[in-house]
Amino acid sequence: MSSNQTDVVFFDENGLRTDQRKPDEIRPMKIKIGVLSRANGSCYLEWGANKVIAAVYGPREAHPRRMQLANKAVIRYRYNMQSFSVEDRARPGPSRRSSEISKVSREAFEPVLFAEDYPKAAIDIFVEVLQADAGTRTAAINAASLALVDAGIPMRGLVSACAAGKVGGKIVLDLNKPEDNYGEADLPIAMTEDGKITLIQMDGHLTPSEFEEAMELVQKGCRQVLEIQKAALLEKFASVMDDDEEEI
Ligand code: CDP
Repeated sequence: MSSNQTDVVFFDENGLRTDQRKPDEIRPMKIKIGVLSRANGSCYLEWGANKVIAAVYGPREAHPRRMQLANKAVIRYRYNMQSFSVEDRARPGPSRRSSEISKVSREAFEPVLFAEDYPKAAIDIFVEVLQADAGTRTAAINAASLALVDAGIPMRGLVSACAAGKVGGKIVLDLNKPEDNYGEADLPIAMTEDGKITLIQMDGHLTPSEFEEAMELVQKGCRQVLEIQKAALLEKFASVMDDDEEEI
C-alpha cells in the first residue's frame, strides 16, 4: 500500500480496471474440495492468480498435551506462504505477517465452530499459499471454510472472506496485486452466513464515508463468495445427497 504512486493508471476510459473488471466485481474463483487423502478435509482454491490449499485435521486429541483445554477444543490455524509463491522469494518459516494472519484467521472461525463439544481435542487448519497475487488471507479463509465442511466438522455456517479497497480515489472490490501495491487502502473482512463480521483489518487510509462505502461493498463481495462456496459444496456432495435419498 503506497500512496505516492499517483502516476499509476487504475481505470481505462470505460471505467474498467487493469484486469478488465468492474469496480464491484470479484476475480474468478475455482474450487476443488477433497484434494488430499491424508487430511480429514481439504480444499484447493484459485482466486484470480492466487492459489491456496487448505487441510483440516480433527477434532483429534490435542498434542502436545499441555495445549489441551479442559472444557473445549483448541483451534489452531496456520497460514504459510511457500517461498516460491511470490515474485521475490518469501523467507521460509513463520514471520510477523504470517503469525498475525494465522491469529486473525483463527479468530474468524471461532464463532462458527462448536469447540465446547470437544474438550481436550484440537481442530487444526493449515493453509499453504502456493501462488500469491494479493488477497491471500481471504482466499485462505474461503478454502479453510470448505475444508472444514469436507472434514465433517459441525459449524454454525460457512465463513466467507473478501477485501475492498481504494484505488485511484475509487472504492473497489477484491484488489489485485497492482491495486494492492499502489492503491490507497485495503480492507479485508470475513463474515458468517448470518452477516456477523469475524475478521476486519485495514491497511491505508479511508475517510469515514469511504469506509462505509467500502464496508457495504465488501459485504456484498462476501455474499458473492458464499454463493460460490455453496455451489462448490453442492457440486462435491450432491451425488452423496442423491445416494442418501435413494436409501430412504
Ligand atoms: O495476501 P494478502 O492481501 O492477504 O496480504 P498482504 O500482506 O496485503 O500482501 C499482499 C500481497 O503482497 C500478497 O498477496 C503477495 O502477492 C505480496 N507479498 C509478497 O510478495 N511477499 C511477501 N512476503 C508478502 C506479500
